[in-house]
Amino acid sequence: MKILNVIIIMAIVLSSCKTNPKEITNKPASAYFKDQKIERKVDSVLNLMTLEEKIGQTVLFSSGWDVTGPTLNDNYLKYVKEGLCGNIFNAHTVKYNKRLQKIAVEETRLGIPLLFGYDVIHGHKTIFPLSLGEASSWDMTAIEKSARISAIEASASGLNWTFAPMCDISRDPRWGRISEGAGEDVYLAKKIAAARVHGFQGKDLSAPNTIMACVKHFAAYGAPQGGRDYNTVDMSDRVLRETYLPPYKAAIDAGAATVMTSFNELDGVPSSGNHYLLTDILRNEWGFNGFVVTDYTSINEMVDHGIVADEKEAGELAMNAGVDMDMQGSVYLDHLKELIREGKVDEKRVEEAARRVLKMKFYLGLFDDPYRYLDEKREKEMIYNPDHLKASLDVAKKSMVLLQNDGTLPLSGNKKIAIIGPHAKATVNLLGSWRASGGWDFVTSPFDAIKKYNKNLLYAKGCSFNGNDKKGFAEAVSAAKKSDVVLVFLGAPENWSGEAASRTSIELPQIQTDLLKAVRKTGKPIVLVLMNGRPLALEREVKISNSILEAWYPGTEGGFAIADVLFGKYNPSGKLPVTFPRVTGQIPIYYDMKNTGRPYSANSTEQRYVSRYLFTPNTPLFAFGHGLSYSHFTYSNLKLSAQEITKDQKLEVSVQIKNDSKVDGEETVQLYIRDLVGSVTRPVKQLKGFQKVLLKAGETKTINFILSNDDLKFYRKDMSWGSEPGKFNVFVGGASDSVLEESFLLKD
Ligand code: NOJ
Repeated sequence: MKILNVIIIMAIVLSSCKTNPKEITNKPASAYFKDQKIERKVDSVLNLMTLEEKIGQTVLFSSGWDVTGPTLNDNYLKYVKEGLCGNIFNAHTVKYNKRLQKIAVEETRLGIPLLFGYDVIHGHKTIFPLSLGEASSWDMTAIEKSARISAIEASASGLNWTFAPMCDISRDPRWGRISEGAGEDVYLAKKIAAARVHGFQGKDLSAPNTIMACVKHFAAYGAPQGGRDYNTVDMSDRVLRETYLPPYKAAIDAGAATVMTSFNELDGVPSSGNHYLLTDILRNEWGFNGFVVTDYTSINEMVDHGIVADEKEAGELAMNAGVDMDMQGSVYLDHLKELIREGKVDEKRVEEAARRVLKMKFYLGLFDDPYRYLDEKREKEMIYNPDHLKASLDVAKKSMVLLQNDGTLPLSGNKKIAIIGPHAKATVNLLGSWRASGGWDFVTSPFDAIKKYNKNLLYAKGCSFNGNDKKGFAEAVSAAKKSDVVLVFLGAPENWSGEAASRTSIELPQIQTDLLKAVRKTGKPIVLVLMNGRPLALEREVKISNSILEAWYPGTEGGFAIADVLFGKYNPSGKLPVTFPRVTGQIPIYYDMKNTGRPYSANSTEQRYVSRYLFTPNTPLFAFGHGLSYSHFTYSNLKLSAQEITKDQKLEVSVQIKNDSKVDGEETVQLYIRDLVGSVTRPVKQLKGFQKVLLKAGETKTINFILSNDDLKFYRKDMSWGSEPGKFNVFVGGASDSVLEESFLLKD
C-alpha cells in the first residue's frame, strides 16, 4: 500500500512536464506562486492525504544541535515517520538531513519530502557583516550578493528555507534585535528587503542553490514599548502602514515565499492571532500566495498574552487568523483535529494551509527530487569557498562607518602601535549574533590582521566589556606610552545584541570609557574601533578620541577588513542606516521626525517653551546617513528642472559633487524631501533616493535624480494613498543633516 501511494505521488509529479519555476523579479505579490499546473499537482496530492497528514504539513519542529552534530528528539522522529510533521528546522549538513529526508520519503505512507529551515541571517558558514552593518554599505549589489552566497552555502548544507530577511524597522536601539534589520528608514529598508529576497531566492526557486526567504517578523516587532524585546506594540494604523509595513511588502513584492509572524501584540491582538494582519492585509490587500509560519511557540504564547484561555483556543485563533504553520508549538498537531470536529475550524481552512506548504515544496522542486539539496560533493566545494570569503571581506569593508576623523586615520605602516581593549583579539565576536553555523576557530582577530601591515605592535587587553576590574589599566597605559598611536577596540560582546538582548542604556559600559580616558591621559592619538550590534551613545567618547570607526560585527573576514580600512587600503564609504543619539534618553530619535507646534530653533528668542530637552540638544551625535571618507566631498549647484510641476510631470534634480582631496573615494549621495503642508503633518525630511558614486581624486561629477508623483505620496487624512498639492523642499547631501536645499510647487 505504502509503495503504491509513493508511486501515485511520483506519477502526479511527472504527470505534466517538470515543475515550472517562477521567475523572481519585482512584481505585485499576487503575481507569484500561481502556476496552475502546480496547483493541480497539489490537488492530486491532497486527495490522497488523510486529515492527520494534512495537519502534519502545518507542523514544524526543531532539531537540536549536540557537540557531535544535530539530533532530533525521538518524539519528533516518530511524528516524521508517521507523516505528522512535515517540516524541520535547525537541522543541517547533508549527512544529517539526508537521513531525515530518507525517512520522510521512504518510510512515510505518502513519501512527502520535508522542508528544512534555519536562521541563515548574514551567512551560513561564511559569515558576512551583521545585517545592520551590511545596511550601512547602502550597496544593494553587495547586500544581494551576501544573501546569494548565504543561500549557496545553506542549500549546499541541506537547507531549503531561511528565516530571513528580517524587515522590522526599528527606531529604538535599546531593542537588541535592531542589529538584525536594516535600520530606521523606510526607503532604505525597502530596497534592502528586496535585495535580500532576490539574493536568497535567486531567479529560480527550484534551483539546488536557492532557498526560500521568510519575511519576518510580521508585523511591527521593531517597535516594542521601552525597547524591551517581546513587549507590547501600539501604534496608529497610519504609522503602521506608512513606516512599518512597507519593508515587509517590498520583500513580498520581490517574491518572498513565506512570512513569519511576530511575538508582539498590535492594537491588543498578538500577531499570530491577528486576522487583520495575516488575512486582511497580507492576503486580501497584498495578494500574498506563499505560506505563513509563526515565530517559535508564538501560538502557545497567546495564552500568556491573555487573548485565549488555553492552547486549543490559541490554535483556533491562529488558524482562523491565517497562520499556516506552527513553529515548535505543537498546538496544531495536538488540537486541530478536535477543533475541526467541534466546528471551530473549517477543515477547508486546514486544507488550504497544507496546500500552501505543499505548493512551496513543489516550487522548490522537492517533489521532483527530494535530495536536490543534499549533495555531499557540493557541500564540500561550497562551504567556506574562497570566493565566498573574498565576498565577505568585500562587504565587511563596505559596511564600516568612519564616524569621526581628525586625520589620524589612515595609519601609516611604520608607526609603533599599541592595540588595546576587550575586542582587540576578537574572533567569535567578529561574527556577531545570529551567526548560523559560522565557525570562528580559524577566524583572524583584528590584532593578528593588523600584523599584515605593521609588526611593531604592543598589546594590552585593559579590561573586560563590563565590571569594575581596572587591574589591566596600568599595562594598557604603559603600552600607550611606548607607542606613537593607540588603537582601542571597544564595544559589546555579540550576545549583547540580537534576541532577548534589550538594554536600558546604550552608552558604553563605564569601565570601557574609563579605559579610554586612562589611555587618553598619555596624550597619544587615539583611534577608537567599535564592534557592536546597535547604535551607541558616544557623547563621552567623541571628546577623547581622535578618530572613531564603527566596524559593527564584520564577519568571518572582519579582522582583515578592519585592518584594510585602518591602513587606508580601503577608503571607508559606509553611511549610518540609523541615528546615533548623544545619550540614551533621546530615544526614540530618528531623522524623519515631525516638526511639532513648538519646534526648537537656535535662532529663536523663545528658548524655554519649545520642544527640547533642558540639558541636551535635540540633535543626534551622528545623524542618519552620516559617514566619513578619507576623501573629502563638496556639494554645490543643486538644481531643479522646474519650479512647479503637475502630478504627471517628473522633476529632475541635479547636484555637483567634487572630490576635493588627493584620494579616490566613494560617496553616497542622498536625496530627501519635505512636504511642507499636508492634511496630516509630514516629517521634516524623508529619504527618496540615493546613489553611491566613485570619484577619483579631484574629480567632479553631476548626479541626477528623478522625483515623480509616487515619491510625494502618503496616507492622507482619509487614509487614501496619494500626494497633495503645495510646496515641497528638496535636500541633497552626504548625510541627513548636511544638505543643500531647494524647493518646488506641486500643482493640482
Ligand atoms: C525566534 C526568532 O524570533 C526568529 O527570528 C527565529 O527565526 C526563530 N526563533 C527560529 O529560530
